[in-house]
Amino acid sequence: MCNKIVLVLVVVAIGKCHIHNKFPENFKFGVASSAYQIEGGWNANGKGENIWDHFTHNFPNSTADRTNGDIACDSYHLWKNDIALLKYLNVSFYRFSISWSRILPTGFTNTINLDGVRYYNNIIDELIRNKIEPMVTLYHWDLPQPIQDIGGMTNPLIADYFVDYATTAFYFFGDRVKTWITFNEPIKICLQGYENGLYAPGIKSRGIGCYLCSKTLLLAHANTYHVYKSYFKSVQHGKVGIAIDSDWYEPKTNSKEDEKSVERVLQMNFGWWINPIFSKGGNYPRIMRERIDKFSKTQNFSISRLPVLTSSEIRTIKGTYDFLGLNHYSSKLVKARTSLLSRMPSFDNDVRVDIETDPNWEKSALELMPVVPWGLRKLLNWIRKMYNNPTVYITENGYPDKGGLDDEDRISYHTQYLNELINAIRDGCNVQRYTIWSLMDSMEWTSGYKIKFGLYHVDFSDENRPRTPKKSASFYKNVIRDHGVPNIKRNIN
Ligand SMILES: *[C@@H]1O[C@H](CO)[C@@H](O)[C@H](O)[C@H]1NC(C)=O
Ligand SMILES: *[C@@H]1O[C@H](CO)[C@@H](O)[C@H](O)[C@H]1NC(C)=O
Ligand SMILES: *[C@@H]1O[C@H](CO)[C@@H](O)[C@H](O)[C@H]1NC(C)=O
Repeated sequence: MCNKIVLVLVVVAIGKCHIHNKFPENFKFGVASSAYQIEGGWNANGKGENIWDHFTHNFPNSTADRTNGDIACDSYHLWKNDIALLKYLNVSFYRFSISWSRILPTGFTNTINLDGVRYYNNIIDELIRNKIEPMVTLYHWDLPQPIQDIGGMTNPLIADYFVDYATTAFYFFGDRVKTWITFNEPIKICLQGYENGLYAPGIKSRGIGCYLCSKTLLLAHANTYHVYKSYFKSVQHGKVGIAIDSDWYEPKTNSKEDEKSVERVLQMNFGWWINPIFSKGGNYPRIMRERIDKFSKTQNFSISRLPVLTSSEIRTIKGTYDFLGLNHYSSKLVKARTSLLSRMPSFDNDVRVDIETDPNWEKSALELMPVVPWGLRKLLNWIRKMYNNPTVYITENGYPDKGGLDDEDRISYHTQYLNELINAIRDGCNVQRYTIWSLMDSMEWTSGYKIKFGLYHVDFSDENRPRTPKKSASFYKNVIRDHGVPNIKRNIN
């Protein structure tokens, strides 16, 4: 029981009430979405085909329920309604992505689709009218298909076409958009897209494709940053960063081998991206460079499967950030792998660790996403120590379930993670924003519509796609109102 009368009469009772753990004054809260997952309108008014359109249309078995994003939440039509949902939550910013193919149907700047420009102009204007800052992701996995047809992210020359697209977005929207994210989750783009082929474009090129992809992506990101800084920043005064995804990794035992495995898996997943951009020296992590060079030789490749970054490329990429976007959901246990190096090249074989989850961890609807709130604090502190405490925006954090409006488990997840975030801030981590994935239930890639992350429920069986707030929507509204989160007893690691 916690009300004013109790507070006045029994001061001791305060201790049992919801004491709120407060965030720093300038800390900001938001929610996120992405174009393919919510917009629909896949071929509406001049939009071109992208790799997710192509992938789901040609291989319907790629998603768990054989669905696609042709209509999704129909945000292409319902965008104004969605901004009203944001207004209800009273978020300070909304992270959404621009569909490259909606504004450049061929992928190239020779053809501009004015309907697409109008669509994003409307969203941006309506957000600003409602005092919600637009935070825009340029690339949330939906590469134009014509670009994939010439190699996609494995073609190094595509980096320049990405910069062209980004420049177009700065030109049209940069007067009002002040926070730009170049790429969302580069690890997923390169590994799921070009290593195991589970995601569009579905290329299986183990141990090779993912490394070609990473070089293109890093140069595309870096050159976009430079173009913004040279030609737009002095007028538009915005910031450019990248959203990198990482779990936290905990050693399975306290053996030296398991601890070394943790460091290696962090370096070869997260460090793969963060090291070239955020470290003093730049370049891929040394352990990654040396291992893949060595393994390539053993496997009789004449050159390393990890393309070299020249010293000029290293300089180009280094320091190209105004903030680090961090997508974080969960943690894993890591143990050393003892089997011999395989002759077959693969990313997994290059990293060579065994990854599992702890059966004692609280579960979610996805087996690989248990609830491990203290992992967030550890990851943030690792970033602080390794990379000179950069400005961090948490650009995604969220809980998957199978549906229902009474989503106590989601509330519990966010309560715990937000408490650990406050602990990390008290440790000295420079985290300035927090973003819940997601505003509403959406097309969750290969999970289709079976897995839900939304604060709002969407009825996908109704052609009007009605949205209904879940319990977690009012929870988050209160977090934003109180600028803090109910205190809880912390899970002891
Ligand atoms: C989908 O079907 C194709 C054959 O049409 C097959 O090659 C592919 O492996 C299947 N994908 C999945 C994820 O089952
Ligand atoms: C929304 O948040 C702003 C601060 O960001 C605050 O000034 C305003 O009162 C809030 N509105 C409502 C309806 O709570
Ligand atoms: C590499 O080539 C050597 C010499 O030709 C051969 O003995 C060895 O088995 C090859 N290694 C692999 C992984 O194929």
